[in-house]
Amino acid sequence: MQSEAGVELDAVDKGYGAVQALRGVSLRVAPGEIVALVGPSGCGKSTLLELVCGLGAPDSGTVRAGAAALMPQRDALLPWLTALDNAGLALRVAGVGRAAARVRAHEHFAAFGLEGFEHARPAALSGGMRQRVAFLRTLLAGRPVLCLDEPFGALDALTRLQMQRWLAGALAREPRTVLLVTHDVEEAVLLADRVVLLSPRPGRVVETLDVLLPRPRERDDVAVVELRERALRVLGADDAGALGRELAPAARAGAPARDEAAPGS
Ligand SMILES: Nc1ncnc2c1ncn2[C@@H]1O[C@H](COP(=O)(O)OP(=O)(O)OP(=O)(O)O)[C@@H](O)[C@H]1O
Ligand SMILES: [Mg+2]
Repeated sequence: MQSEAGVELDAVDKGYGAVQALRGVSLRVAPGEIVALVGPSGCGKSTLLELVCGLGAPDSGTVRAGAAALMPQRDALLPWLTALDNAGLALRVAGVGRAAARVRAHEHFAAFGLEGFEHARPAALSGGMRQRVAFLRTLLAGRPVLCLDEPFGALDALTRLQMQRWLAGALAREPRTVLLVTHDVEEAVLLADRVVLLSPRPGRVVETLDVLLPRPRERDDVAVVELRERALRVLGADDAGALGRELAPAARAGAPARDEAAPGS
């Protein structure tokens, strides 16, 4: 293990009964590195994050990781708690008192664009706001490794773009080791240091792309477009441009609607 803050998977197999989710997956994430995982639906991405977070054990192979916090694929805000208490939930679970957890969560509300919504319940927040509360909760868990499972999967295109920019800024302010699962190849190239492309189930690593581009990155940068097209070709898209536009909405079809609340984010 490189350090307490890295992630290391070696020849990991994981199945559920007859379903083989992951086969022979080896992956290293250095401390402070942002690695995106992209692959077709059902190829074992969420499974891989669960293994990194210690929520399951591999059938064979080894998983070693620093303490990791999971932002689950479905936003798991508790509907009866306010934004402030949802954000502070991980602190409460860790034994911090209610008042102290609220103070610590509130310190981030302005930077997270949540000021004025401290006492709003999730149903009264926009989709983007809910994602920011969920991300803040993950961040406040205080773990060196963040596992983000399609954090923007259910958002509309514009909100998604805003949130991508926002996440890049948040990680620049508070660097962490990040495993980011996304269906969106462009999102992966915009945010990650490396993009790991997975095969259809059973998921295995087919290629890793280094994204050696300065930040901030823009979606129409020539180098961003080139890398995106290359990733789509590896993933088996004949018309890479068209698939790039189709991949995310198709994948979103099964996700819960999270954007039905108040407009704006
Ligand atoms: N707890 C479970 N019990 C049984 N089967 C499971 C379980 N979790 C995942 N699977 C199966 O393992 C496979 C991989 O699932 P996983 O959720 O990891 O895929 P994914 O890549 O995250 O998919 P998506 O992109 O749709 O979120 C799927 O076939 C799924 O049905
Ligand atoms: Mg998943």
